[in-house]
Amino acid sequence: MHLKDEGKVFKVVVDDEVLQFLDRIRVYDDEQKKPGAKRRWKVGDRLTIHKKTVVEPYVTFREVGFSILNFGAFSYSASGLPLDIKVGRYCSIARNVEVFGWGHPAEAVTTSLMVCNAETRWVRQAYKDFGIGEFVSVRNKQKLMPTIGNDVWIGADVRIARGITIGDGAIIATGAVVTKDVAPYSVVGGVPARFIRHRFSPNIFENLLDLKWWSFSFKDLAGMDFDEPDRFADQLRERAPDLRPWNPKRINLWEAFGSLAEPQPPAPEVPQSSPAVPACP
Ligand SMILES: CC(C)(COP(=O)(O)OP(=O)(O)OC[C@H]1O[C@@H](n2cnc3c(N)ncnc32)[C@H](O)[C@@H]1OP(=O)(O)O)[C@@H](O)C(=O)NCCC(=O)NCCS
Repeated sequence: MHLKDEGKVFKVVVDDEVLQFLDRIRVYDDEQKKPGAKRRWKVGDRLTIHKKTVVEPYVTFREVGFSILNFGAFSYSASGLPLDIKVGRYCSIARNVEVFGWGHPAEAVTTSLMVCNAETRWVRQAYKDFGIGEFVSVRNKQKLMPTIGNDVWIGADVRIARGITIGDGAIIATGAVVTKDVAPYSVVGGVPARFIRHRFSPNIFENLLDLKWWSFSFKDLAGMDFDEPDRFADQLRERAPDLRPWNPKRINLWEAFGSLAEPQPPAPEVPQSSPAVPACP
């Protein structure tokens, strides 16, 4: 297995061992609706992963992208998202969803890269050509990645500002530009996104928020009334005292791939003439 350390991120070249490992930890690269359908990530592709990325099982990075992200169990994305985003469990992220890009320094005299990004080739060259010594960047603090809760559905073509939180159970309508926090269980849409409605009446969604149904094993929820949120909440409240939160193995991929890439100890030598094995009594 080929791993390349690139500071905050690393690259791994896909080979059969990588694909088998992803199967084992239940990380998928496509829907593969038909059994035996071709996989999206092919031997020789390079995946780029943040070193802090931790995944839970049954997550899918489908249609686009060559990365594995911090996703909670049963979440999928059909969009390529920033490597350090955090997404909860049971989230559905449609196509062409993007997080606002890198911020230029709006408070400085200019937003140009000439004063904030020495890594750009033409900036370096210009400094050299003008005989200017050291590059001193203006202040340009980047906002953190948005945080996406559990059971969030993000429709197609949505844009999400950095630094905001999308609450548990929220729905973002297609085409929205979300610039502010989204309250749990609300549906928002438009440019900029505005509240449309709640998914359920407050007594129901407050109950669901209190119970945090996504924190239990799906096995413990099987057979409950997913069609009827109020009945579901009653059923879960009844069962909850006997249930423990579900904590599947959360895998840090840098460590996991690192240990796979380590040279394996040689197989123990088989003695040429083994002592006679006593027969079973
Ligand atoms: C958000 C969504 C689920 C709402 O569906 P709905 O509850 O059936 O909504 P309705 O069509 O009844 O509309 C309710 C209100 O929301 C508004 N609305 C619906 N979609 C909107 C959108 N994309 N942007 C802005 N407003 C929207 C409607 O105009 C309506 O407003 P009004 O009450 O003032 O008349 C749906 O519009 C949507 O965006 N789905 C995402 C689809 C998608 O991207 N799928 C990708 C595959 S995962």
